Amino acid sequence: MRNVILDCDPGHDDAVSIIIAASKQSSLNILGITTVAGNVDVGKNTVNALKVCDLLKLDVPVVKGAERPLVKESEIAPEIHGESGMDGPVLPDPVKVRHEGHAVDFIIDTVKQSDEKVTLVPTGPLTNIALALIKEPSIKDNIEEIVLMGGGTFGNWTPAAEFNIYVDAEAAEVVCKSGIPVTMFGLDVTHQVIADQKVIDRVAQIDNKTAVFVKELLIFFGKMYENHFGFNGGPIHDACTTMYLINPEMFDFKETNVTIETKGEAAYGMTVVDLLRTTGKKKNVKFAVGVNQETFWEQFYHILESFSGK
Ligand code: BDR
Ligand code: CA
Repeated sequence: MRNVILDCDPGHDDAVSIIIAASKQSSLNILGITTVAGNVDVGKNTVNALKVCDLLKLDVPVVKGAERPLVKESEIAPEIHGESGMDGPVLPDPVKVRHEGHAVDFIIDTVKQSDEKVTLVPTGPLTNIALALIKEPSIKDNIEEIVLMGGGTFGNWTPAAEFNIYVDAEAAEVVCKSGIPVTMFGLDVTHQVIADQKVIDRVAQIDNKTAVFVKELLIFFGKMYENHFGFNGGPIHDACTTMYLINPEMFDFKETNVTIETKGEAAYGMTVVDLLRTTGKKKNVKFAVGVNQETFWEQFYHILESFSGK
């Protein structure tokens, strides 16, 4: 059992990532879910996380985190995720009550108290993770890996920058410079897992309420990606993180240096990935470059089939 904290901003693909982690196919021990300002404000993201936990009957702490990035003001993405941050499916108001305290302290305390190392799985801006590392640097020793969604060799929020990194590039820099093993799922790989109509049709054949929820998420997300980017479906970016933790073999990586651009104007928030090793800088990131799509989707359907409840 691998101990994980899911740090997220649900978010359609964040919700899918939580579902993967919580499934019977998963060997992950979810110590808690922490939320951060990202797709929408942290309050809405927290409500969405609580709703997903209710749906899954997932009894883990859900802890609200940072209201805004380290340096800049927040930027949100309702044009991708809708006003609620998880538009499309309608879930009841949360019954589950959010855990008291702040996500940053929860991360610090949980990592410190854990007998075994903890893996952090951020799928939103990296504000909470950076703040935890700044507030209590000693937690580094008990963090096994940071498996994050963010970055890429191209952008989706600006031509150079991916949303999660752009929103809090200073936080991303803290994480990439931390010395903790970082595994990065950027757009290069997440754009290889697009939930197109074929995927949606296959999910629609699965008869349980979690699969129905995922189908509705994918329909909404796909429409937004079509309107916004002209894609034929939504890339389920964040799902790559938990899928990797369940079955790492399906992904290909390049170990290299990734530097976060925090000063440039046109390139602010860019992850400068030294794919050809031109700089000689120290390797600090395992950067995902490919995925076996057939294996990914087969595992995805399997995961959804493992849920019960109509
Ligand atoms: C990332 O941004 C968010 O909109 C998604 O949830 C994902 O984490 C993709 O750029
Ligand atoms: Ca996200």
